[in-house]
Amino acid sequence: MKILFVGDVVGSPGREMIKEYLPKLKSKYRPELTIVNGENAAGGRGITEKIYRQFLNDGANVITLGNHSWDNREVFEFIDEAKFLVRPGNFPEGTPGTGLSFVKSGGFEAAIINLQGRTFLPAIDCPFKKAEELIQVARSKTNIIFVDFHAEATSEKQAMGWFLDGQVTAVVGTHTHVQTADNRILPNGTAYLTDVGMTGPYDGILGMEREAVLKRFLTSLPVRFEVPKEGRKQLSACLIEVDNKSGKAKKIETILINDDHMFISE
Ligand SMILES: [Fe+2]
Ligand SMILES: [Fe+2]
Repeated sequence: MKILFVGDVVGSPGREMIKEYLPKLKSKYRPELTIVNGENAAGGRGITEKIYRQFLNDGANVITLGNHSWDNREVFEFIDEAKFLVRPGNFPEGTPGTGLSFVKSGGFEAAIINLQGRTFLPAIDCPFKKAEELIQVARSKTNIIFVDFHAEATSEKQAMGWFLDGQVTAVVGTHTHVQTADNRILPNGTAYLTDVGMTGPYDGILGMEREAVLKRFLTSLPVRFEVPKEGRKQLSACLIEVDNKSGKAKKIETILINDDHMFISE
C-alpha cells in the first residue's frame, strides 16, 4: 500500500493547493492512505471544524497537528468528536484530543501517531517514551504505523527516526516548513524524512508575509505575522510505499510542487 503525506498547510493559499492538487496526486499515485498536517490551516494558526471537514472532503483520511494545535480556540469545541484529527500525543495528561488514530482505508488499517519535539519548543512530556507507549497500543491492531514528528531540531528528528527504526512504517518530520532531501529507508525498514515541508505561500518566509518577519528580525519589535493572501503557492509532500504484511517501508519519495520545482524524487 501507499501513504501520501502533505506537510503543514498554511492558511487559505495552502488550502487552495490542497483543493487543486490533492485530487491530482491521488489519481496519479493512488495512495490507500492520505494524511495532511493542518496545524497552520486556519490563517496560519490552528484549525477549525470547517477546515477539518474540508480536508476530509478533499481526500485526506487523517489530519495531524503540532505546536499550533490550540491557536484557534474553535478546536476545543470539536476535537474530542473528531475521530481523524490527531494532536501531539506527548501533550500533558488531560489535554483534549488524541495522539493516536486508527484509520481503515483501501482495505488496510493504519495507525497515525503525532508527536512533538522538545528542543526549541515547549517542555512537554518525553516524545520518545510516549512514542513507545503509543506504538504498543497501535501494534495491537496493525503493523502499519505512521509517525508525524513535529519538531524543530534536526538532531531530535534523526534521533526519533533511529529510535523507532523497525518499530514503525515511517517517521516523517513537520514544523520547519522547509523540505529536506534526506528521504531514506533506515536499515530495519522505517521510512525517514527530516521534514516534509510546507504547503502554502511560496514567496513568504515559512509561509508568512515576509515584510512582517523581516521587521521583527530588523527591529526585534513585536510584530503579528499574517499569511499573504496573494502570490505564488507551493505544495510539499512525500509518498511512502509499504509492505502490507510487515508494515515495513519499501520506498520514500519527496514531492515538491512550486514554480521552481515540479519535483518527484526517485
Ligand atoms: Fe507548521
Ligand atoms: Fe509547528
